[in-house]
Amino acid sequence: MEELFELENGEKIIIRHVKRSDVNGIWKNFNEVVEEGIYLPVLFPVTSQFEKQSWYDNLKKANEICIVADNLDLKYPSNIVGQCEITNVEWDAAIHVGHLGIIINKKYRDMGIGYNLIGAAIRESKKLNNKDKLILSCFSTNERALNLYKKIGFKVIGVRKKQFYIESEYHDEVLMELFISDYILED
Ligand SMILES: CC(C)(COP(=O)(O)OP(=O)(O)OC[C@H]1O[C@@H](n2cnc3c(N)ncnc32)[C@H](O)[C@@H]1OP(=O)(O)O)[C@@H](O)C(=O)NCCC(=O)NCCS
Repeated sequence: MEELFELENGEKIIIRHVKRSDVNGIWKNFNEVVEEGIYLPVLFPVTSQFEKQSWYDNLKKANEICIVADNLDLKYPSNIVGQCEITNVEWDAAIHVGHLGIIINKKYRDMGIGYNLIGAAIRESKKLNNKDKLILSCFSTNERALNLYKKIGFKVIGVRKKQFYIESEYHDEVLMELFISDYILED
């Protein structure tokens, strides 16, 4: 799978499956979003090369999906400007359920990359790892993400109040889900 997506400013983005050589770009992107401190319930960046490589090995071993947005106009490792993962949930009896996570680099938000990345990840997940249902969670203050998830078709199924505590502030966690058959209507 490889899709070309051209931004309004003319930059070309390839949407494709992650490769081992993307690992440093993936974690650079992740660590930058962690440093923003308002979107993810993660307090520390990942710096260990072992941890970065193990993430890739485990993803492949578990047949999980990671779709990246590769900006052809940027040099490695800054070329990875977005990533969307659909990973397994922990329970044996929930093998049909995937957990969706997505981050887009600060400079590339609100350009439609997130929408396209999630769409590609859902289609690939249906094809390659046979998920029927996707779940995710999001801070209640993250209006952009909530807006995008609703536009894709995710429904809010509950809120965990004060689930996270970051820099002296509590955050409520919104729980959402989507049945893939409601997204891929031709199935
Ligand atoms: C949330 C995120 C994944 C969305 O990806 P993106 O590429 O920026 O999203 P898109 O451009 O495809 O779509 C964003 C939509 O939200 C809208 N939006 C932007 N800011 C908004 C706001 N404050 N309130 C409501 N809607 C907003 C945009 O107008 C757009 O909607 P439209 O297409 O109907 O006009 C990305 O911004 C991101 O990574 N943010 C930081 C990390 C993060 O929050 N990750 C998710 C954690 S749950």
